[in-house]
Amino acid sequence: MATDWTKIMKPYPGRLITLPDGSEMEVTGMERKDIDSVCDALIPNLTYHKELFDLVTSEIITELFLWRENRPIWELPAGSQFCLVGRVNGEIVGVTNGGCRDPKIGNSLHTTTLKRGLQIGAYLWPCKLEHYFDVLGVDTVEASAESAIGSRKLFKTYGFTEHPYPDRYSHFGAILQTMTKPQWDRIKAGKLVGEKLG
Ligand SMILES: CC(C)(COP(=O)(O)OP(=O)(O)OC[C@H]1O[C@@H](n2cnc3c(N)ncnc32)[C@H](O)[C@@H]1OP(=O)(O)O)[C@@H](O)C(=O)NCCC(=O)NCCS
Repeated sequence: MATDWTKIMKPYPGRLITLPDGSEMEVTGMERKDIDSVCDALIPNLTYHKELFDLVTSEIITELFLWRENRPIWELPAGSQFCLVGRVNGEIVGVTNGGCRDPKIGNSLHTTTLKRGLQIGAYLWPCKLEHYFDVLGVDTVEASAESAIGSRKLFKTYGFTEHPYPDRYSHFGAILQTMTKPQWDRIKAGKLVGEKLG
């Protein structure tokens, strides 16, 4: 029987995080009606041809448009897709998106930022893990580190493991890594910061 994703997907409650420069970043779940405006905000990254900003951003934009058209992304059902957006004073500063392989396996897609040096990606990443494990209730999150910075900041420091699937790769050719709910419960007190909204 086909999964009814409308019964599984839940809204992200939101989080308010103080960035290193003292500004407040509000992280909220994105609605489908916001897809075009979020993609427009990401366009500057397409001309930033360093450290995979252009490639990762073009993938996010494609994925959000596929979501808009209710089409699957890399075999993830359309109904399982979500995106969290970080804003400072209403301006979009970062985006992180994902989907689910099935109701118990999350498949993280991408994270990118529109401002450098403020740890925005490092703050958005645990928000996405919070959404997967604590809101949607998955057992495992699968993810791939696409860039060297992402691997160093978002995977190694979180204890993602490469071992279970040495022969499985993401569409970027990066090896698939996993985090489990018990792992998340062990590390989240030190990683998930800010004030929960809602
Ligand atoms: C990976 C990513 C999300 C991390 O975002 P972040 O946590 O906000 O990271 P920052 O911009 O604060 O800093 C990242 C690194 O860039 C470098 N950096 C920081 N400020 C910089 C600046 N003004 N100019 C150039 N490089 C800078 C530093 O090496 C820094 O590492 P550090 O924080 O350990 O010192 C972001 O770099 C990004 O969007 N990259 C492109 C897409 C990507 O790789 N996504 C992740 C795939 S796994």
